[in-house]
Amino acid sequence: MMPRERLRIAVQKSGRLSDPCFDLLDRCGLRFRRSRDGLFCFGDGEPVDLLLVRDDDIPGLIGQGVCDLGIVGRNVLAEFGGGALRSLRDLGFGCCRLAIAVPQERAYTGPASLAGLRIATSYPNLLKGWLERQGVAAEVVTLAGSVEIAPRLGTADAICDLVQSGATLIANQLREVDCVLGSEAVLVAADPLPADGRRDAIELLLRRVDGVTRVRGSRLLLLQAARDCVDAIVAALPGAPRPTVLQMDGEPGQVMLQALCPDELGWRQLEAIQRAGARELFVLPVERALA
Ligand code: PRP
Ligand code: ZN
Repeated sequence: MMPRERLRIAVQKSGRLSDPCFDLLDRCGLRFRRSRDGLFCFGDGEPVDLLLVRDDDIPGLIGQGVCDLGIVGRNVLAEFGGGALRSLRDLGFGCCRLAIAVPQERAYTGPASLAGLRIATSYPNLLKGWLERQGVAAEVVTLAGSVEIAPRLGTADAICDLVQSGATLIANQLREVDCVLGSEAVLVAADPLPADGRRDAIELLLRRVDGVTRVRGSRLLLLQAARDCVDAIVAALPGAPRPTVLQMDGEPGQVMLQALCPDELGWRQLEAIQRAGARELFVLPVERALA
């Protein structure tokens, strides 16, 4: 394989993870020009390019050295087996579960209810491992896609597939009955990492990913108050942040308080903080952080 100087990241071309992946990379300051065939994104600025592929192909592409990094569900990584790959970061989006689902009308009282059934899945390794751990003998029917229609087609009695919102199951009159694996998007890399200049690009990317994920959903709260009210205000802050309290120039007894709150601050919480003595409250989104 030709030596490469630029870092290449494999990303799902279209699917559950695509939009949040592009959003993350954008927040990391990476800008791309898409090739005419839509398979490649050339990085503008940083030496980082993207390859847009089917998510199931991502572990293999990294294993073969075609890509250095990838963003993929932990479920896909676990199904692949993990050899020559390692997970660098959990990304906190694409949260879902690999679940067992059965037709609405089928009784289910536990894994033993699956004994002797045909279960359709795109995750045969994970399903076989789970069935074995449950001590259940069932037939695993491997399908590349459209697993959810197998029970209606009569090719399976149950399925084992990813569930995020649950909409796909509802649309197919299926009911989720057991969880095989919890999953979210992860940043994976070749193991060992490339030892050349690409290493710097990986470190830059990791710093920025951390700077984005660390404050995702956080809000910066700014307010003014009498110093006497600070304890009551701090007690009313959700998520127990440790605020910074600043003396206000020329206004003895008055302070300005700033706190990084881990979650959204709703009106009710804000009103409670106001009742504790705060005024001039401002809630600001936090985009990125650098320690
Ligand atoms: C998964 C799964 C379902 C859907 C479930 O597909 O196969 O089709 O997501 O999501 P829901 O509960 O929100 O309806 P995914 O996007 O991972 O793509 P793939 O299985 O085609 O690779
Ligand atoms: Zn897939």
